[in-house]
Amino acid sequence: MSNQGDTSVPLLAARDLAKTHGRTRALSGASAELRAGEILAVTGTSGSGKSTLLHCLAGIVRPDEGTVTYAGERLDELPEKRLSELRRTEFGVVFQFGQLIPELTALDNVALPLLLAGASRTDARATAGEWLERFGVRGQGESRPGELSGGQSQRVALARALVTGPRIVFADEPTGALDSLASEQVMTALVGTARESGTAVLLITHDAQVAAYADREIRLTDGTVATAGVAA
Ligand SMILES: Nc1ncnc2c1ncn2[C@@H]1O[C@H](COP(=O)(O)OP(=O)(O)O)[C@@H](O)[C@H]1O
Ligand SMILES: [Mg+2]
Repeated sequence: MSNQGDTSVPLLAARDLAKTHGRTRALSGASAELRAGEILAVTGTSGSGKSTLLHCLAGIVRPDEGTVTYAGERLDELPEKRLSELRRTEFGVVFQFGQLIPELTALDNVALPLLLAGASRTDARATAGEWLERFGVRGQGESRPGELSGGQSQRVALARALVTGPRIVFADEPTGALDSLASEQVMTALVGTARESGTAVLLITHDAQVAAYADREIRLTDGTVATAGVAA
């Protein structure tokens, strides 16, 4: 079953999620929906459950209770093999610190998901180069992550998340470690590409200026979605 092209059905939906880490209840009855092509900001204070919600929605963590449905499939019930295939092909992920592979050049970091998907080394590197170009970091292609600024690293990490043409990008405070100029460059790159390709984005942020890029905002309080509405 697929709902591709049907915008009346959410692409990704979480219902009544609960998740406990040890004795800490990270989520208690959180529900959220993401539509195809939508940019959704998730805000809330530190510890409110934002990252746990993202991990459940992206199929990285299984909730203790509740359901996660992606394009008609119950992610919370899928076997690990199918989940990792989905994460590789349909989802892209960016974290606060890009988590690039330090031993690989920027270009090879971006080429890696294509190699894993079966592309030839020549094709993968050519496509990776186009993505670096698009994000204004082509000149850093042969640099290793340790030689890049925070903003450059995050643009490389975005290129890596988008290079396979995912339907959803999950971004957990992607600008959290950046100054406002670098933050704006990263957001412009992310939102511009998502709009162009119809990629949906789930964007966790503390920053109202970053949340303003979104179509809609939800706010988490103590593991529950407190308010839903349109970003200011
Ligand atoms: N792996 C973990 N082990 C123990 N506690 C955790 C773990 N992950 C998150 N928590 C706790 O769960 C709560 C929610 O965390 P998190 O989802 O990371 O919130 P946020 O991203 O909003 O800061 C916090 O109290 C946090 O300390
Ligand atoms: Mg977090």
